[in-house]
Amino acid sequence: MKIQIFPSPSAAARALAREIARSVSRNPRLVVGLPTGRTSIPLYAELVALCRSREIDFSKVTTFNLDEFVGVPPDDPRSYHAFMRRHLFDHVNLSAHRTHLLNGVARNMADECARFERAIDRAGGIDLMVLGLGRNGHIGFNEPDRSLVTHTHRTRLSASSRRANAFLFGHRVLRVPHEALSMGMGTILRSRRIVLFVTGRSKAHTVERVIGGRLTTRVPASLLQLHRDVDVWLDEAAASLMSSS
Ligand code: GLP
Repeated sequence: MKIQIFPSPSAAARALAREIARSVSRNPRLVVGLPTGRTSIPLYAELVALCRSREIDFSKVTTFNLDEFVGVPPDDPRSYHAFMRRHLFDHVNLSAHRTHLLNGVARNMADECARFERAIDRAGGIDLMVLGLGRNGHIGFNEPDRSLVTHTHRTRLSASSRRANAFLFGHRVLRVPHEALSMGMGTILRSRRIVLFVTGRSKAHTVERVIGGRLTTRVPASLLQLHRDVDVWLDEAAASLMSSS
C-alpha cells in the first residue's frame, strides 16, 4: 500500500481530483468506481471545478457507484443516486448512459445485483476504484462480520453505518434504512487500481487498523492489503495514529 499524506482534507481532495484528471487524459474511456459519503463531497467539488476549466473531460468516462440504500427510490433526495446528481453528475459532462448505480427499489434484488456485476464486466472491469472508509472499517457497505461476500449483494447495515448516514435523512438515524445493496469485496478487489481516500481525526484509529498488517473481516478495508495497486490518500488528521502501526 502506498501512503500519501496531505496537510488538509481540501489539499487531499484537490490532489486526488488532479490524479483522476491525469488518469482520464491518459485513458478517456476510464471506468471509475465512486463512493458517496461526506468525505467525497470536496473531491466532487474539485472534479466539477476541473471540468468547468476543461481540465477533465468526462464525455467518454464510465462510472459505477459502490452502493445504494434498499427501499429508497433513485429520485428520492435521500438516495445515493440523488447524492451523486447533486454533487457530481448534474455539473459535469458525464453521459447518463455511462453512469451506473444500483437500484434500491428493484423488484428482484438478486437480479439487480447480477445485472450490476454484468454491467461492470461489459465495461471491461473497473480501472480506478475510489473508496471512502467507514469508521467501522467498511468499504462500500461491506460491513464488519465473521465473513464477507464476494459479489454485489444485499446487506444489513450496522448501527455505526446508519449513524454515519443520518445526515442524508434529516439527522434522524431511525429513518436510515436497515439494508443496502453494495459491491462485494471481490468486485472491489478486481479493480485494476484502488485509491482509499480518508480524512479526519475520527477515522485515524480505523486507518491504523486498515494498514497495520493484520487482515480481518472485522475490518473489511484491511483486505485491501491483498491488492497490488492500492494508494491510501490521507489528510494529517486521518494519518495521526499511523506511527504506531
Ligand atoms: C458510507 C458509504 C461508503 C463511504 C463511507 C464513508 O456509509 N457506504 O461508501 O465511503 O460510508 O462515509 P463518510 O465519508 O461520510 O464518512
